[in-house]
Amino acid sequence: MPKLTRSPAWQALTDHCKAIGGLATRDLFQADKGRFEALSFEVAGLLLDLSKNRINGETLDLLIALAQDRDLAGWRGRLFAGDPINDTEGRAAMHMALRGTGDEGYAVGGAPVSPAVGETLARMKDFAAAVQSGERAGATGKKFTDVINIGIGGSDRGPRLACRALKPYRRMGLNVHFVANVDATDVTEALHTCDPATTLIIISSKTFTTQETMTNAMTVRRWITEDLGSDAVNNHFIAVTGNVDAASDFGIKAENQFPLWDWVGGRFSIWSAVGLPVLMGIGSDAFRELLAGARDMDGHFRSAPLHENLPVLLGLVGVWNRNFIGASAHAVLPYDQLLEHLPSYLQQLEMESLGKTSDRAGDLAETATAPVVFGEAGTVGQHAFYQLLHQGSDVVSVDLIAAVESAHPAGDHHDKLLANFLAQGSALMTGRPDQEQPAHQAFSGNRPVTSILLPRLEPRTLGALLALYEHKVFVQSVIWNLNPFDQFGVELGKALAKPLVGALTHGTEPENLDGSTAGLLSRIRQWRDVES
Ligand code: F6P
Repeated sequence: MPKLTRSPAWQALTDHCKAIGGLATRDLFQADKGRFEALSFEVAGLLLDLSKNRINGETLDLLIALAQDRDLAGWRGRLFAGDPINDTEGRAAMHMALRGTGDEGYAVGGAPVSPAVGETLARMKDFAAAVQSGERAGATGKKFTDVINIGIGGSDRGPRLACRALKPYRRMGLNVHFVANVDATDVTEALHTCDPATTLIIISSKTFTTQETMTNAMTVRRWITEDLGSDAVNNHFIAVTGNVDAASDFGIKAENQFPLWDWVGGRFSIWSAVGLPVLMGIGSDAFRELLAGARDMDGHFRSAPLHENLPVLLGLVGVWNRNFIGASAHAVLPYDQLLEHLPSYLQQLEMESLGKTSDRAGDLAETATAPVVFGEAGTVGQHAFYQLLHQGSDVVSVDLIAAVESAHPAGDHHDKLLANFLAQGSALMTGRPDQEQPAHQAFSGNRPVTSILLPRLEPRTLGALLALYEHKVFVQSVIWNLNPFDQFGVELGKALAKPLVGALTHGTEPENLDGSTAGLLSRIRQWRDVES
């Protein structure tokens, strides 16, 4: 296969960009009255409108040709076949099996995985029911009122997002808290609102070695045992992990552990027992709807022709915006307060998966890869950073996401919210071309906008939305020839932190510190001495 940028498909896109790159998207609407219909796609309860991007039908044809040239269908086949496509770690990426019915034939290394998934889901359901009924209670026999999820990265962001997004579906009457940061403020604030006797703790960590999670877990274990005695660990702690031995060493018996398999990456794990806090909040039936929504998207991604396949189109238009239009940043802008954690969830999904410059062959990636992902719930971002989106020197592509129906209808709030969702997309795309105005009031427009509309935010549409983004990331990984399932870029900082913990806690001297870090360490020590 020729190098990406030397392939005829890439060359054709480069020529095409020269031809249409200078056009204004608003003019493309003038030229084609059917543009919205032609560039909008509806699947699994989601409407994806790509028409505000600087593309036309030919752009999509050329992008599809690029996907074919890069063997997207072959890679997709290997993904669903459970091949070890996370080649640096020799693992499959089989998160789709977590939301399967069992009939899809999902297997890893030839071994079916659905039975273990089904068994775990049944255990999660039984556990949540036992907590709700009080059959599963704290050490003093009191019913649990609070759940603290201790985890970080994928073991935090998914359940945090879904618990918030599906809050209107909460049925179980439990307060769910999330503790992620090693900063003690995080855990201290959570513990202040809880009573040890009525608090259940879920330690969610695939490796059960992550510094932040283990530090928080030890602190909370002390909080429990100082109040209730050491035997209370048995009643109050649950582990979601792939490291049975470490969780057992912590004091969590096998019957209180839920498995995570090595074919589930952290940022793809919300569908697994990592989702236990979600299930405990909304109940098993609603959790299954979340899975069903993702399954709808899996089925679509797996079988729909590329030119009408939502994750394929979303991923390819992302490549177009990044590599041809030059968008180095991408804003995720949900016009829904319940989706306020979506930007940070997608930040991990996209940046940890695709923030790489070494390709699958070990060569330097030929093109720019993942853009910087950021965002905030609309409309609050409008009064903060949208200035740059409209008039900044860099092109920022945006995803605008809204639900037609409000979870909390009140007066004309939702009309105003939707009006802003529509207005911002229009302003970014159209700009203000026709009026005489001073330069500082000019809006060039032509900013790439993708809109995603849901009838309402409910478990099923949320599941479809998240799976849409997961598969989008996979599509882009194929074009850029990256392994999206490893994250070696996080390792160096972790390794360097270890001797620095020693320096700060035990006064040891770390070797080979750079001058700035040595200076900062020394100033921390000096200021500590003054304080004490
Ligand atoms: O440091 C990055 C990372 O490995 C993420 O990929 C992962 O989601 C997070 O840490 C937490 O890992 P674990 O679940 O093993 O504690």
